[in-house]
Amino acid sequence: MNYIGSKSRLSSWILEEVKQVVGNDLSQKIFCDIFAGTGIIGRTFKEEVKQVISNDLEHYSFVLNKNYIENHKAIQNKEKYIEELNNLALIKNGFIYQNYCMGSGSGRQYFSDENGKKIDAIRSKIKEWKDTKQINSNLYYFLLASLLESADKVANTASIYGAFLKHIKKSASKELVLYPANFIENANSHQVFNKDSNELIKEICGDILYLDPPYNHRQYSANYHILNTITHYDSFTPKGKTGLREYNRSNYCKKKKVHTSFENLIKNAKFKYIFLSYNNEGLMSEKDVKTIMEKYGIYSLKTKEYQRFKADKTENRNHKADKTYEYLHILEKEDI
Ligand SMILES: C[S@@+](CC[C@H](N)C(=O)[O-])C[C@H]1O[C@@H](n2cnc3c(N)ncnc32)[C@H](O)[C@@H]1O
Repeated sequence: MNYIGSKSRLSSWILEEVKQVVGNDLSQKIFCDIFAGTGIIGRTFKEEVKQVISNDLEHYSFVLNKNYIENHKAIQNKEKYIEELNNLALIKNGFIYQNYCMGSGSGRQYFSDENGKKIDAIRSKIKEWKDTKQINSNLYYFLLASLLESADKVANTASIYGAFLKHIKKSASKELVLYPANFIENANSHQVFNKDSNELIKEICGDILYLDPPYNHRQYSANYHILNTITHYDSFTPKGKTGLREYNRSNYCKKKKVHTSFENLIKNAKFKYIFLSYNNEGLMSEKDVKTIMEKYGIYSLKTKEYQRFKADKTENRNHKADKTYEYLHILEKEDI
């Protein structure tokens, strides 16, 4: 999934840097990815550590991580479920078609009419199976994560859900095919949360804490609202042109709140090693971050130049990439 701030292209660099500081053998360590997004960093560490704790404020991210991180044992017959979902009859009275497709008269066009009806058919069937206990929680999150990623592939947006496109673009005109969101199988069990990081941090402890907060004012909850609507699949009155639902406002996207929130997070962390990814154009400057972190232990900094994914307004997904510097701030915490 194309995701603002995704670390998919930086994951091996981050793993390398963590090993440089903590040591090559992480097999007895608890690793926490507390702003997990797509979960790519948790996935990178899943086979390396004893346990991954994964968290994000957004429900769609929780769903992705319940599948990619918490699921670790093979699910029997999962292909059979995917096949059945791929062959359902389309439905016209579902929430997505009724509110986010042109053919229903909603005035919105996040998906083609056919794909909107297919999302509803699949989502309703997953809900029915769960409500009637025909599937367990592991299979439920696997199927829901599969739907999220497959629906995202045919979304009629420039990349984020802050707006839809006037005309159906090529990738959105293709029929939605449900692909399995296959996860890494391993022996260890993992934990996934859907909380504000500053609340969760008071309840957990471990060895390595990885922080990848938003770095600007753009709220993920607004930019990915359709994904939350697919995962919650509840009923509400969509607001305005884009059909927004009530959304979370993170303190990490607020200039006036970010410094205090960040300091509280560091202060309350019961982890020896803390790694923070932060961009050079963030609400907190490099110096702000350093000043806060070095109050709590031994601080160092690593940088890497890289090509960033950038949402653009063209009608395809050839996102402009531009050069930016990614910073990895490192703290070895004293007095945990
Ligand atoms: C830069 S993205 C993380 C990207 C992720 N590392 C990846 O590679 O996909 C920041 C994430 O922080 C989440 N977030 C924002 N405020 C939060 C908060 N207060 N507590 C927990 N998660 C939060 C957002 O929902 C978003 O997924």
